[in-house]
Amino acid sequence: MTQTIHLTRPDDWHLHLRDGAALQTVVPHSAAQFGRAIVMPNLQPPITTAAAALAYRARIQAAVPPGVQFEPLMTLYLTDNLPAAEIKRAVEAGVVAVKLYPAGATTHSDAGVTDVRKTYKTLEAMQRAGMPLLLHGEVTAPEVDIFDREAVFIERQLIPLRHDFPELKIVLEHITTREAVQYVHAADRFTGATLTAHHLLFNRNALFTGASGAGLRPHYFCLPVLKREAHRQALLQAASSGSSKFFLGTDSAPHAAHLKESAAGCAGCYTAHAAMELYAEAFDGVGALDKLEAFASFNGADFYGLPRNTGTITLKREAWTPPVSFAFGAALLKPLRSGEVLPWRMV
Ligand code: DOR
Ligand code: ZN
Repeated sequence: MTQTIHLTRPDDWHLHLRDGAALQTVVPHSAAQFGRAIVMPNLQPPITTAAAALAYRARIQAAVPPGVQFEPLMTLYLTDNLPAAEIKRAVEAGVVAVKLYPAGATTHSDAGVTDVRKTYKTLEAMQRAGMPLLLHGEVTAPEVDIFDREAVFIERQLIPLRHDFPELKIVLEHITTREAVQYVHAADRFTGATLTAHHLLFNRNALFTGASGAGLRPHYFCLPVLKREAHRQALLQAASSGSSKFFLGTDSAPHAAHLKESAAGCAGCYTAHAAMELYAEAFDGVGALDKLEAFASFNGADFYGLPRNTGTITLKREAWTPPVSFAFGAALLKPLRSGEVLPWRMV
């Protein structure tokens, strides 16, 4: 049994850091593990200009502990009216991608896209500039079952979009279904996908299984929502297939605990405190620890056309229990599997 693994320092290609006091808690967690992270722009108000992205980047950098190397890679939030001219400014500012949230799909998505055709001028500018489009791939039509939103998005939105923009770099973020895995496997080199640790580790039963039988567990609620076991198996197979199209994106999404433990709890799982430990557990579970490095440290950088990191991290098979909660401004932040024993530990 493998006891220790050394990996090239990984990157997180999908991360929520929030703003203000929250940064003091969550930035050090990600910076301890990852060399870089793609930072989601769904603040309130969202990050829709290169100037706002640069100011946000500076606030994040100010929360990186002294002596730690961590590079936030910034994104813009696509709206119906993001001007094509902003793409040029974004490229010049070092912004690396643009995120599309269908309006109403998830946390802070009200300013998102109502009809992708309204964004075509901007997408043309992105295709020309080689700037990736990051997709929250779920339809919001109320008649579509929440468990089918991703598969329907691929049929109704992604296939036509890809037809109209054959060379636009697209990352289908946090994929959760067999249909998404099949789509990405069959796609060409302009398409990639990120996978979260929680979708690799848990199926939808986790939402309803308390310590002593049934229980509704809000800390397992995220969007896209956890799916059936057959989908989880497809995700594990994709992540450990050796295909360079699949890479690590935690979608770690911190919310104050009281806003998750509520009648209408917020969507998002916080995993940044133990991200690599959780991925190691998932890969170990299918005997694929040897595939973890390419998934975590190579494939994403190669897709984005960025250099791979230098330096390494080490993970050890060692049981430990992360804290039950972290201070989160004036509130508390409860990580996924709060207070539970994890089998892998970063040293
Ligand atoms: O669960 C989620 N939380 N899914 C998202 O798409 C957004 C995220 C958040 O920002 O909290
Ligand atoms: Zn996200």
